[in-house]
Amino acid sequence: MADPVVTAVRLGKTYGTGDVAVSALAGIDLEIESGTFVVLSGPSGSGKTTLLNLVGAIDVPTEGSITVDGVRLDGLDGEERTRFRREHVGFVFQFFNLIPTLTALENVQLIAEMTGRDGEGPAREALEAVGIGDRADRFPAALSGGEQQRVAIARAVAKRPRVLLADEPTGSLDLATGRVVLGVLRRLNRERAMTVLLVTHNTAIAEMADRVIRLRDGRIVSDVSNPAPVGADRLEW
Ligand SMILES: Nc1ncnc2c1ncn2[C@@H]1O[C@H](COP(=O)(O)OP(=O)(O)OP(=O)(O)O)[C@@H](O)[C@H]1O
Ligand SMILES: [Mg+2]
Repeated sequence: MADPVVTAVRLGKTYGTGDVAVSALAGIDLEIESGTFVVLSGPSGSGKTTLLNLVGAIDVPTEGSITVDGVRLDGLDGEERTRFRREHVGFVFQFFNLIPTLTALENVQLIAEMTGRDGEGPAREALEAVGIGDRADRFPAALSGGEQQRVAIARAVAKRPRVLLADEPTGSLDLATGRVVLGVLRRLNRERAMTVLLVTHNTAIAEMADRVIRLRDGRIVSDVSNPAPVGADRLEW
């Protein structure tokens, strides 16, 4: 592969030991080309969140190796993993996790500053990039679900990560709002060549991806490229 941003070799994760050991990821090999929009799907318990957490250095593998954006993650200590997360990856979750007592702008700014992008500039720019620059001074309670999720995306991309990890980002949104959020992710993916790894149960979302990887029982059971991804506005579910 010309420019892989994620390389996993026999990557495995077992939770617990002995009688209570659970194999969540059973030694997968994976390469993801930089700039790809990847959908990761599969049944509940198949290992999707586990894989995302290993790519994002939230968790550590028990077998194999993983390299993301040129950084070998297995073997890093806690402090090194924290630094990696701050500098290289952004996270978006199903529940937006905004701080209710801070405005949209302050929510984004707080995280941008932790990564050394000081001042209002990068935070405002990120809110503009997700199409809600005009909502900067509102508190989360005064924003719709889709707007709150776009603040969460702005927060994740203000530091311009190479990789964005999204776990069910439309899981608590209706169809119309979900399409808007997916459209924002697709646009950021294209404009910034930011690799997106999006976990979803919703098989319809696969149609907008460049590549669709399905997991079952901690293994990759299918991995297909999509030569003609459709626009997020055309998805139906
Ligand atoms: N912290 C943990 N301790 C023990 N077992 C865990 C832990 N986290 C996940 N598991 C187990 O690992 C397996 C994979 O879990 P994972 O959360 O990756 O699945 P998933 O594909 O994201 O599922 P869902 O679609 O329900 O979110 C499951 O059997 C789960 O019970
Ligand atoms: Mg999960």
